[in-house]
Amino acid sequence: MPSRRDFLRLTAAGAASLALPTERLAALAGDPLRPFQVPLRIPPVAEPVLRAGGRDLYEMTMREARVEMIPGVRTTIWGFDGRFPGPTFKVKRGREVVVRRINRLKVPTTTHLHGGKVPWKSDGHPSLLIPPGGAYEYVYPNDQEAATLWYHDHLCKKTSRNTYMGLAGMYIIEDEEEESLNLPRGRYDVPLVLQDRDFNKRGELRFRDAVDEILGNVVLVNGRPTPYMKVAARKYRFRILNASHTRGYRLALDNRMPLIQIASDQGLLTAPYPAPDIPLWPAERAEVIVDFSLFPVGTSVVLHDLQDPTDPASARPVMRFDVAREAEDTSSLPPVLRPVERLLPGPGTVRREFVLSQNLDKNRWEINGKPFDAARVDAEPRLGDTEIWTFVNRSSMVHPMHVHLVRFQILERSNAPITPGELGWKDTVRVDPSANSVSIIMRFEGFTGRYMFHCHNLAHEDHSMMGQMLVRPGDDATARAAEPEFAGGYAAGRAGLPFRCDFRS
Ligand code: C2O
Ligand code: CU
Ligand code: CU
Repeated sequence: MPSRRDFLRLTAAGAASLALPTERLAALAGDPLRPFQVPLRIPPVAEPVLRAGGRDLYEMTMREARVEMIPGVRTTIWGFDGRFPGPTFKVKRGREVVVRRINRLKVPTTTHLHGGKVPWKSDGHPSLLIPPGGAYEYVYPNDQEAATLWYHDHLCKKTSRNTYMGLAGMYIIEDEEEESLNLPRGRYDVPLVLQDRDFNKRGELRFRDAVDEILGNVVLVNGRPTPYMKVAARKYRFRILNASHTRGYRLALDNRMPLIQIASDQGLLTAPYPAPDIPLWPAERAEVIVDFSLFPVGTSVVLHDLQDPTDPASARPVMRFDVAREAEDTSSLPPVLRPVERLLPGPGTVRREFVLSQNLDKNRWEINGKPFDAARVDAEPRLGDTEIWTFVNRSSMVHPMHVHLVRFQILERSNAPITPGELGWKDTVRVDPSANSVSIIMRFEGFTGRYMFHCHNLAHEDHSMMGQMLVRPGDDATARAAEPEFAGGYAAGRAGLPFRCDFRS
């Protein structure tokens, strides 16, 4: 573990050799990992290289870079366009996007759009790799409601490492319905990507592959340790993404004002929900409105992580907001956000059960007693069908379970009520340990082909806690329209995948 003293020594040396300005020296005099030393950074918005034929083409290069995360220290990362996190996409519903991803790293990669309804060959299947020096065009139709998605690496057995090094970013879909609500926008609509990391003495990221958990001592927000942000005394919209490997957060404001949650993984809730705290497990998103006009200019409020909600002393800071100036605010927070159609089971509803367990002999995690195997299909839902999946957790750890392609609703959690913040559309759900279960309901829409479902604790995912579904054509019109794509993908699958991803040995 890098001790505080190590960092002191490191920064003292750095300060002497670089002849930093006095202000910087003062900042470095203490522990550079002390909270609130650095301002929050907002990742740049990705710009298309070409807009033509009704679609936008982006180019994004995965490469190594040396960036400043800890003040005064350069850290080696692997980033989209050399950034940690990658640039933010802001796209419009219904406008197709092609992202040409170029791999300039020394390792293969594959990129998944988490929460995206995309053709399976653009889904970052662990068998469709971009080799070092290669490139691949991902097609994102964006034919789905406004939501905060994210993109990240999905390489077979190496997702944790690649993502730890920085291969992740936010992807925002906007639509007219949401725009008409006049929520805070522009510079008052702020992405917050939460990732915990460990650094070694030289300030380099220290990744350690593990089966159970990958936790870091430092919580980064948009790639900076426990930053501060100067805000105006008005409403802001924060899009919070937990892009951590294992860590679950319970987010709250230190002054006990509720966070007004307006959206979850797949877009707006039906109505704003004043949440005393928001549990956020890996890959989950929560969007909140904070109205800083309620605090006098000159005051600060800390967003913190309540480790133990009954003990306020256990909270640890995530970032601080400093109310720095007055500002005009013409945005609104409407009492109703959007209708969310409740999915209900019918006579034809297919039910599946997935038991989540640890195999201590083989040192891996399993779904229904099996490790992942890309040559095996674990479920074959039909397009147009509604299914109920129950995840039963027969282990001692939380599993945030994620299903590609679809959005779902939570029907039931065995050990706790479903909070209003969880009643909207989701794509990842926490399943609590010790024989607890969660049931979700979803309708298969959009595309046929091969998609993953897995635990989003990346240590678990990389240690085989993943399954594959083959979405087949159904009877309805959407299904028929999708069949040509299906034929190709399915045949290729039957013929054997180009890359073997399994845990048999
Ligand atoms: Cu965000 Cu398959 O994952
Ligand atoms: Cu996903
Ligand atoms: Cu898990």
